[in-house]
Amino acid sequence: MHLHLIKSSLAIITLSATYSLAASAHDAKTDSKSVSLGEAHHGSIHTDLKILNQFEEQPESTQQFYIEARDAILRNNSRRALDQICKRYDRIHMGGPMLGNLSEESVSIWMQFPHNQKISVTVTNEAQSFTQTYSSKKGSTHHHQLCDGLTPNTKYSYTVSITGSETILASGAFTTAPPKDFQGIYKLAVGADFHKIGLHRPELLDLVQSRGNIGMLLLGDLAVDGRRSVPERNIDYLLRDISPVWQRFAAHIPSYTSWDDHDYYGNDSGGLYAGNPNNPIDVKALRSNWKRMWNNPERQLNREGIYFQTQIGPAHIIMLDTRSCRINEKRGELHSFLGEEQSQWALKAIQESTSPYLIISSGTMWTNYISNGKDSWGTWDTQGLEEILSALDQKSHSKILLFSGDRHGAHAFGIKRPNGKTYTEFGVGTLGGVPGGGKAQDQSTQLFAYPGAGTWAYGELEFDTTTPDTPAVTFHLINTEGQEIETVEL
Ligand SMILES: [Fe+2]
Repeated sequence: MHLHLIKSSLAIITLSATYSLAASAHDAKTDSKSVSLGEAHHGSIHTDLKILNQFEEQPESTQQFYIEARDAILRNNSRRALDQICKRYDRIHMGGPMLGNLSEESVSIWMQFPHNQKISVTVTNEAQSFTQTYSSKKGSTHHHQLCDGLTPNTKYSYTVSITGSETILASGAFTTAPPKDFQGIYKLAVGADFHKIGLHRPELLDLVQSRGNIGMLLLGDLAVDGRRSVPERNIDYLLRDISPVWQRFAAHIPSYTSWDDHDYYGNDSGGLYAGNPNNPIDVKALRSNWKRMWNNPERQLNREGIYFQTQIGPAHIIMLDTRSCRINEKRGELHSFLGEEQSQWALKAIQESTSPYLIISSGTMWTNYISNGKDSWGTWDTQGLEEILSALDQKSHSKILLFSGDRHGAHAFGIKRPNGKTYTEFGVGTLGGVPGGGKAQDQSTQLFAYPGAGTWAYGELEFDTTTPDTPAVTFHLINTEGQEIETVEL
């Protein structure tokens, strides 16, 4: 273990089609189990079935359901066909529960159905003799059910059912956020780059839960890989939602998700599809898909781009979108990277922050240490970056933590400021064990480096406000055995 001490203030499917697809599933299962990043990008049914079975062979009925439902989604006819397929496989819901948008008194519970349903969520805390049922007013295929009126920093269990039915569809548990002025210890997990593969591997996501994290920040390249249309994205969400590993995680840990290039389209895409100036990314359609298929704070706001802020206990969290708001023709100019609107929004959020911890995530790297900045801040908007860092310099009472996704592997770098402060950028792109990253050419400020290939790890932030005047936070890098392989105290 290394310890770093940083002083910082910082379809209607036919039976014959079913049969041939089942044969394809069989082929997939007889191949090598290991799925490469290239295969994940390619995303054929063959490789997607490999991903599904890579770590644990799924029941035949689950695989056949996936094959048929995937075909229905791709045929764009979806609802009627999906409905019939779900009935045939005895599946009332298609996804969820997925927790999100945790606060000290509430949580949101996401569910997906093949046709409109009304849901009821019953939240319980036996020690407090608390039981409350929250019911949706309208039938819908996608629910983000708010459960409010809860007590801070308290563990609850819940069940989900169709309104009017006694049958419990799903259950889970969560712990509400501590209050903003909390004096104590709590934990949040962080990571990036599942590239679909990592959503099926049990160790890390089970550890996030068993080690007592109350939420997890997921910084891009997550459940979707290289899909151009909404139906294609949705078949990747289907793959996510049938993963037992993801189901266990999502029902117990509220997740916060920003997107990177592979969630939008393909490698290094940003603002444009495949760099084609005549083919801009349809940000509205993507935001709409993000709103439906994830469960994030500020999702209801009328906003172009996938960025938001939230408060979890004493930590203020700002998650930026460094892909969809890019102004390609202005590359190199101020605000070309985040766009004007997001740039002003981010500066205001920082200026108005009063929290002892300020966590800001960028889809791509803050620094240029890996891949020479390639498509990050350094080759897009150095002035905009300086503007944000200067705003952070003013937050003398906050611990500043910078996170980024995109680059694989796990790494941390110190960012020295003219006023003597040093901020730390953490990259934890090891949720999928995919290649890339590791040691920078210039390692003068690098705190640790793990290459992506073969490294599976997530980040854990332990906030300690036991002594309010000196809030502390410690970063741990946790491997699949639950070992803290890196520790950085801030
Ligand atoms: Fe990635």
